[in-house]
Amino acid sequence: MSGFEGITAVVTGAARGIGRALATRLAAAGAAVVAVDIRGSDVERMAARLSAGGARALGVRCDVSSRAEVADLGRAVAAWSPGGVQLLCNNAGVFTPRHAVTATHEDWEWVLGVCLWGTIHGIEEFLPGMVASGRPGHVLNTASMNGYIPNRNSALYSAAKYAVVGLSETLRLELASTRVGVTVLAPSAVHTDIGTCEDVRPARFARTREDPPDDPFADHGLAAARQPGEVAALALEGVLAGREVIFTDPVVGPLLDERHARVRAAVPTSPPGISPR
Ligand SMILES: NC(=O)c1ccc[n+]([C@@H]2O[C@H](COP(=O)([O-])OP(=O)(O)OC[C@H]3O[C@@H](n4cnc5c(N)ncnc54)[C@H](O)[C@@H]3O)[C@@H](O)[C@H]2O)c1
Repeated sequence: MSGFEGITAVVTGAARGIGRALATRLAAAGAAVVAVDIRGSDVERMAARLSAGGARALGVRCDVSSRAEVADLGRAVAAWSPGGVQLLCNNAGVFTPRHAVTATHEDWEWVLGVCLWGTIHGIEEFLPGMVASGRPGHVLNTASMNGYIPNRNSALYSAAKYAVVGLSETLRLELASTRVGVTVLAPSAVHTDIGTCEDVRPARFARTREDPPDDPFADHGLAAARQPGEVAALALEGVLAGREVIFTDPVVGPLLDERHARVRAAVPTSPPGISPR
C-alpha cells in the first residue's frame, strides 16, 4: 500500500485512544473511514465531525466480540463502500488486571472475546474481499508488548495478545503471494481510556463474583507512556513501510532478548532420547 488517499479503512475501537487517533489521521490523509466502536454515539459524533471537516466517514456501533454484529457491520460497510475495504485496523481491546487464578470465566470470555475474537471476526468478515479484489490492502492488528513478553498480571490479556501475534505472523506468510500485507502494532504504555473499559463490558460477560482487582498495571520499567497520536503515526508509517511489527518503547529489546534466551535454552542440541518403558 503506497498511501491512504482514496482508500476505505475500517478502524475498530475508534471512539477512544489509539483507534480514534488512527481514524483521525487516516481521514486527514484522504481515506474514507469507517469508525467502529461499542460506544455507538461517540463514533457517530466522530464521523459527523470528520465529515464536517471534508472527509468521508461513517460511524457504526458494533460489539466486535459478536460475530453477528460484525456481519451486520460488513453489510453496512459494503453498502457504504462498494469499492470494498483496503485497510482493516483490528484495534478494539480491553484489559482487566486479573491473575488467572482469580479471573472468572466471564473475565476470560470478555478479554478473549474482544481482543482475540474481535480480530478474528474482522478477518473473517473483510479479508476474503480484500484478497479477492486484487487491490493493495493491509491488515493492522493491534496486539501489545504483552503479546511478546509475559507480565505478572496479564494472563488473560497475554493469552489474547500472543494469539493475535501468532495469527498475524501466520497470516503474513499465508498472504505473501497476495497484495495484502499484515502488520502487528505492539505498543507499550499509551495514555488512553483503557482503564475505563469496564464501562463497556457487555452484560453477557458480567462478573459473577465481586472481589477487588489484582495488581494494578504491572511495571516493566517502561519509559513514559506515549500519546495515542504518536502511536497512530508510528502505526501508519509501519503500514506504508510494510513492517511486520511496530514497538513503541526501547525497553522491549532487552525484555525480548531475555525471553528468547530463556526459551532458546530449552531447545535440545540433539534429538532428546526417550527411555523405553
Ligand atoms: N493503552 C495502552 O497502554 C495499550 C498498550 C498496548 C496495547 N494496547 C491496545 O491498543 C488497543 C486500543 O486500546 P486503547 O489503549 O486505545 O484503549 P481505549 O479504551 O482508549 O480504546 C479502546 C476502544 O475500544 C472500544 N471497545 C471496547 N470493547 C469493545 C467491543 N466489544 N467492541 C467494539 N469496541 C470496543 C472502546 O469503547 C474504546 O473506544 C487495544 O487493542 C489495546 O489492547 C493499549
